[in-house]
Amino acid sequence: MNASLAEFNLSPDLLHLNHAAVGPWPKRTSDAVRRFAEENTTLGSNRYPHWQATEQRLRERLARLIGAASADDIALAKSTSEALSVIAHGLDWQPGDNIVGIAEEFPSNRIVWQSLANQDVEWRPLKLSESQTPEDDLLALCNPRTRLLAVSWVQYARGRRLNLERLGNACRERGILLCIDAIQGLGALPFNLSRMPADFVVADAHKWMLGPEGIALFYCRPELRPKLKLHQFGWHMVEQMGDFDRTDWQAASSARRFECGSPNMLGIHAFEASLSLLEETGLDQIEQAIKERIDHLIELIDAQGFELLSPRAPEQRAGILTFQIPGIEDHQALWRALMSQNLLCAARGGGIRFSPHFHTPMEDLEQAVALAAEQSRTI
Ligand SMILES: Cc1ncc(COP(=O)(O)O)c(C=O)c1O
Repeated sequence: MNASLAEFNLSPDLLHLNHAAVGPWPKRTSDAVRRFAEENTTLGSNRYPHWQATEQRLRERLARLIGAASADDIALAKSTSEALSVIAHGLDWQPGDNIVGIAEEFPSNRIVWQSLANQDVEWRPLKLSESQTPEDDLLALCNPRTRLLAVSWVQYARGRRLNLERLGNACRERGILLCIDAIQGLGALPFNLSRMPADFVVADAHKWMLGPEGIALFYCRPELRPKLKLHQFGWHMVEQMGDFDRTDWQAASSARRFECGSPNMLGIHAFEASLSLLEETGLDQIEQAIKERIDHLIELIDAQGFELLSPRAPEQRAGILTFQIPGIEDHQALWRALMSQNLLCAARGGGIRFSPHFHTPMEDLEQAVALAAEQSRTI
């Protein structure tokens, strides 16, 4: 763990509690990008086979991260939103089908399903704020026309974590597909497809996985791959990739069928480096370190008399903690005041959202809560 902590070099005058927005890069990721830039400058693409080996290592790391059977099951998308769109507009909908989800989701997880309304596909959202038992209530919203349950593993605003074992098993029993937006959980918590049977798992690199923006994991259960109608085509997604003179073609049988053109090699080099750190550190250790930080934040927030908006139960939370300060009407104003004091956080879910990672020093949490108390008296 100590070697992993030495990889972080955040400015000492910054309190970074914003992994649920964009995480900082470990040192090895910056080094990988610098090396890749230097190589492009001096050698051009002379070592392209090495780049492809890095790409393959990235797919293997992602497969291990989620417990997928093979690197061939992993596609690299450009964002979570893009991968969700490939799923939404690839499935073969029938008029009257519906999708069950959550009303308070991040926009990418609402808009994409709403965009199917013109095919007479209904999005049926659960109001999470009115639910004590979201897993039960989501399943209760399903009916015989429900084809897909599409939710975030961890809600972006207040950090509610869903029980994916329960949802996955219930969906399997009922023949409903399960799509997980894992961006707020992957890299912070262990995930395994054998325990959490999902049909689709998507997540960009730039939050808890400590990678760059613009490169995302897209897992599609292998049996479903040929069933998703493709809307993007090019040299890279064909089975016979590289045989440029060939005129007949078919989509690759692997998940590469979802990648139409040149790979984001710069992003691949960065993401692969970030994931190597997570693997070396170990997801169980990371989960434990995050839990200790959130436990400590809860103590600090309780001691100040702030109102916790995130769940208290460890199994219902991940790395996100959102709170309100009684008497403060405008939490956006408080957020601006905190940002002006170099406390990187977010205004979400009607309060202030802190999101520490395993490397966040405990003292930063104490300073951040003290700063919130101090600033709340001045705005
Ligand atoms: C739950 C959730 N899904 C998706 C996104 C956006 O991901 P992307 O920019 O990769 O599409 C976010 C970003 O905050 C998010 O919190």
